[in-house]
Amino acid sequence: MTADLLDGSAVGMRFGGVHALREVDVALQPGRRLGLIGPNGSGKTTLLNVLSGVYRATSGAIHFRGRSIDRLGPGARARLGIVRTFQHPQLAASLTIAENVRLGAALGRRVHGSSAAEETARVDAALELFGCAAYGEGLPDEVPYGVRKMAEVARAAAVEPVVLLLDEPAAGLSREERSELIEAIERYYREHPQTALCLVEHDVPLVTALCPELLVLAAGQALASGPAQEVVRDEQVRVAYLGENVELKDTEEVG
Ligand SMILES: Nc1ncnc2c1ncn2[C@@H]1O[C@H](COP(=O)(O)OP(=O)(O)OP(=O)(O)O)[C@@H](O)[C@H]1O
Ligand SMILES: [Mg+2]
Repeated sequence: MTADLLDGSAVGMRFGGVHALREVDVALQPGRRLGLIGPNGSGKTTLLNVLSGVYRATSGAIHFRGRSIDRLGPGARARLGIVRTFQHPQLAASLTIAENVRLGAALGRRVHGSSAAEETARVDAALELFGCAAYGEGLPDEVPYGVRKMAEVARAAAVEPVVLLLDEPAAGLSREERSELIEAIERYYREHPQTALCLVEHDVPLVTALCPELLVLAAGQALASGPAQEVVRDEQVRVAYLGENVELKDTEEVG
C-alpha cells in the first residue's frame, strides 16, 4: 500500500454553534485523484481550509508524510507542497497574470529546491497549459473571468504541488471552458502523475471525468465514498442532492 501524503482523520470543525465538519476521514496518496462533492454548505470548502491550514481543525488530526501538521499555518503547509486554489479567484490585483503565476513557480522553487531557469520554465508551461499565455501581460481585472479562473489553477500548477486542492475551478465557466479545463488538468497529470488531487466541484460530470473516486459530504459528514460511478448511483447521495441544481445521472456528458 502506498503511504498517505496527506491524511485527515476524524476531522471536525466548529464555528460557534455551526458544526461544519464532523469526523471526516480523508487520505490522499501519490497519484490519487479524489473528487469532493456535496450540496451547498456541506463543508467542502471548510475541509480544504483545514487541510491547507487556513483554519485549524477543532478536532481530529492532520498528517503529512506521517508527521502532524496541525500546528502549521497555510504558508508552512504550502512550503511542504500542499497547494490550494480558492472558490473565488484570489489573484494579486496589482500583478499581471504572468506575475501571479510566477508567484506559484517561486513557491515551487522553495518546495523543490529548483533553479531560476526551472522557475521560468514552470511559468511558461503553466500559462500555456491553462490557456493564459495570450493574457500574461494583463492585470486580473482586465482579463475575462474564465482566464482568471484558469490562471488561479495555473498558479497552483506552477508550484508543481505535492498535494493539489482545487475549490470549484470550473464555477462560472462556459461549457467550452470546462472542456479546456478538463483537458488541461488531464495533460498536467500525464506529466505529473504522482500529484495527489482533491477536487471540489458541483459539476459532477466534470469531477468524474477527472477523479476515479469520490467523497460526498452532507451537512459536514461523509455520506458516501468510493469509486465515482458507484457513488453517483448511491440512493443516499441522490437524496442529499434533491433540490440542488446538480445533474447526477449523465456522467459521460463532459470530457
Ligand atoms: N468562517 C466561517 N464562519 C462561520 N461559519 C462558517 C465559516 N466557514 C464556513 N462556515 C459554515 O460552515 C458550513 C459549511 O460551509 P462551506 O463553505 O464549507 O460549504 P461548501 O460545501 O463549500 O458550500 P458551497 O458549495 O456553497 O461552496 C456552512 O454552514 C457555512 O455557513
Ligand atoms: Mg465551497
